[in-house]
Amino acid sequence: MATLRLKPLIAGNWKMNGFRSALNEILAMGNAFDHGLAARLDLLICPPTTLLYTAAATAIGTRIAIGAQDCHAQASGAYTGDISAAMLSDTGATHVILGHSERRSLHKETDALVRAKAQAAQGVNLTAIVCVGETRAERDAGKAESVVRRQLRGSIPTHSNPQNLVVAYEPVWAIGTGLTPTIADVAQMHAAIRAQLRSILGREAGQGVRILYGGSVKPGNAAELLSVENVNGALVGGASLKAQDFMAIAQACP
Ligand code: PGA
Repeated sequence: MATLRLKPLIAGNWKMNGFRSALNEILAMGNAFDHGLAARLDLLICPPTTLLYTAAATAIGTRIAIGAQDCHAQASGAYTGDISAAMLSDTGATHVILGHSERRSLHKETDALVRAKAQAAQGVNLTAIVCVGETRAERDAGKAESVVRRQLRGSIPTHSNPQNLVVAYEPVWAIGTGLTPTIADVAQMHAAIRAQLRSILGREAGQGVRILYGGSVKPGNAAELLSVENVNGALVGGASLKAQDFMAIAQACP
């Protein structure tokens, strides 16, 4: 089934990097994100929680959106050290990355927990960016698609829509390694994710949810990856920390 062209989203995941001085990078990106580019794509930066409020204030008037990297599934309560979706929203953030492979592996997050977090985020009008992706061993065993299908089924709230859900396909073995899947493998996985989204959310919503590719996206490979059908943007880790590289990726977007 042919897919309509969705406005691409280029999202930067700063992970546990960045001090106040890094806000200059957001200003630099804001200045570089001119009206022509803003008409073609959406730009999102997800700094660490400590910078969210100031980043959102810094980004006002720049057309850059600010997002968080995780939230708690509960609205409030005795959860020392945790942060609720409403608190993120209170900073001016509009998006939150959920179920990143580093949280799934290092914090033992399950599909059910990721779905509960996504529901909490959507409940306060944040857009949930739900990450999925197979390990190297799972790909080598021929299980990449079935693993991703299971993650989608378990992690995505069934009433999601294109406004409150983005999916990011990030093969675990491609994150921070400089490795990327072949273009044919990216195309095949994104087509499988699109079909699965239609099955979970219904035809119309499933067609409209953006599917990002993530894992070693750089200025040098962005144009090729972003031109694949059903790749509706990128989730960028390391290369999002430098304004110049991140903007080069955005500029490479077809
Ligand atoms: P990377 O990270 O671009 O550094 O590979 C991507 C991610 O983890 O979101």
